[in-house]
Amino acid sequence: MKKIIFSIAALFILFITYSQSVFTGLPIPKPVSAVHGIGRFLLPHEITIITGKNTELKKIANRLAIQFRNATNYKVTIKEGTATSTGTIVFLLTADKKIPAEGYRLQVKQTSITITASEPSGIFYGVQSLLQLFPPQIEYTLGSNGSNSNDWTISTTTIEDYPRFAWRGLMLDVSRHFFTKKEVEDYIDEMSKYKFNILHWHLTDDQGWRIEIKSLPKLTSVGAWRVDKTGTFGTFSTPAPDEPRTYGGYYTQEDIKEVVQYAKDRYINIIPEIDIPGHSLAAIAAYPELSCTPGNYQVNSGEQFMVWPSGGHFYGLIDNTLCPANEKVYDFLDKVFTEVAQLFPFDYIHMGGDETARNFWEKTDAIKSLMQKENLQNLDEVQSYFVKRVQAIINSKKKKMIGWDEILEGGLVPNATVMSWRGMKGGIAAAKQGHEVIMSPTDFVYLDYMQGDPSIEPPVYASLRLKKVYDFEPVPDSTNPALIKGGQANVWTEQMYNTRHLQYMTWPRAFAVAEVLWSPRTSRNWDDFIQRVEFNFNRLDMANVKYSRSLYDPIVSVTKKDSVQLVVTLNTEVKDLAIHYSFDNSFPDQFYPVYTTPLLVPKDAATIKMITYRNDQPIGRMMVIPVAELKRRVK
Ligand code: ACM
Repeated sequence: MKKIIFSIAALFILFITYSQSVFTGLPIPKPVSAVHGIGRFLLPHEITIITGKNTELKKIANRLAIQFRNATNYKVTIKEGTATSTGTIVFLLTADKKIPAEGYRLQVKQTSITITASEPSGIFYGVQSLLQLFPPQIEYTLGSNGSNSNDWTISTTTIEDYPRFAWRGLMLDVSRHFFTKKEVEDYIDEMSKYKFNILHWHLTDDQGWRIEIKSLPKLTSVGAWRVDKTGTFGTFSTPAPDEPRTYGGYYTQEDIKEVVQYAKDRYINIIPEIDIPGHSLAAIAAYPELSCTPGNYQVNSGEQFMVWPSGGHFYGLIDNTLCPANEKVYDFLDKVFTEVAQLFPFDYIHMGGDETARNFWEKTDAIKSLMQKENLQNLDEVQSYFVKRVQAIINSKKKKMIGWDEILEGGLVPNATVMSWRGMKGGIAAAKQGHEVIMSPTDFVYLDYMQGDPSIEPPVYASLRLKKVYDFEPVPDSTNPALIKGGQANVWTEQMYNTRHLQYMTWPRAFAVAEVLWSPRTSRNWDDFIQRVEFNFNRLDMANVKYSRSLYDPIVSVTKKDSVQLVVTLNTEVKDLAIHYSFDNSFPDQFYPVYTTPLLVPKDAATIKMITYRNDQPIGRMMVIPVAELKRRVK
């Protein structure tokens, strides 16, 4: 008997050891269900991918083959095969109604892998999940500083998966700073690995018009260029009238077609945004007759031109709006949307509609006449008149219109989709009126905001930590869920001068967005998510993609004791971190005191310095906050 118990125990230990040696990383976004088996699959040196006849599946296989070859140096062959063919990896399209749109079933057995879906996008998403089961070296790209793994082993697994929302978006602003076609394509690549399916391309704004419109050449010959400035965008000195305008760029129509196809191959639709009637200075610099206010205009180069009084209504120092009372504006927009509609196959066009400063309209006779003629009671109704005219133009191109939530002001005609950004309330109101809604609220998904302590992040006027993004819930309790198409995070690039910083601001917060928009509400679990974030950091390292490590830095809050002494409370988003600190100006390390309870700031201290450690290794960054700054932060 003892012998039997011993043998069972030995087998059990063997099983534990064995299964621990097998990599069982789980993807972001978390699949609907994933069951790990006992055995393991080892990638053979000669890999065969069976695709069937579908040309999209062949394209997916081609890219997978390139990735395997780069990472492993193994031989990869793609075969059409038949329904019964065996291969290392088999793609199967079925009419199985149990697999929903974009969904897939991924079965990793000991000798082969099968991905089954009812449409090619499902196969694509199955491949993305499969790649996240392999060690991070699978993301190896030439030039990344990782070494190849030679243990291409994953545990046997069955994943059943499909998305919660049909709209899983990221918005990229290429107006404030320009990103090349290649940089946009690289961004699309990274998005697609995490199952985003919408790129909202913010193509026009006060700082640059970035899409070639052949019938309106000055939009890009004039509107795409500004003075090159570096520092804190929005605070720059006003350029001299003759200062060279060397910063900028635009996408030719050929570029656009290429990017659209590139995205389509990765199951991402692109929605173009032409932001009007506000945010239109670049267009007005090109065609000043589109303004209500005659004058000479220049593309904004990052100098202040709008004022945002706290608690008050914002206004423009110069008129950056298209004039709703000018018929030339609608002729102009007809030309623009004709070409835009031809370039983008997606059903929707975004017309912006946000933050229209109307202080110049107030003073314009033409607007007063329009109000009389059309019986418009106020400027909300003038704006609404404009939006309705734009909607008619967009619909005449066989496209549906989306706008930011300001399009509700003054009344909105049916069939427009509302993107709620000023919190969720615009989305809730829009859904009450029966409009489709995309939730994109500043307080949860504005990825231009700082993601850690202001003392250590590039300055932006607001903050948004990873945990808050993970808490985003796109469907408010009171709202018909059928009208919430999904959600989207927005990457405004005023303070993002290059693609490395763009990546830093996007990841890992876009991981959280991806999970919120794909995975079931009930499966959300912060600690589990963080484990997968950390695994995916290694993948980003292999892919040479930058990301922020702000999640490891302390969260600082300051209060006062007895109205005199400063009290600093420290927290972390991630568990199992030790915060070491000093008040004596020296740099703390693991031999310094560990934070356990709120700290009384010594009366004459000049700074607090702190850094987090995990397992005696530094993991956060050295944070330094002057006591004068702590005083400013007192709540
Ligand atoms: C916006 O952030 N102005 C839509």
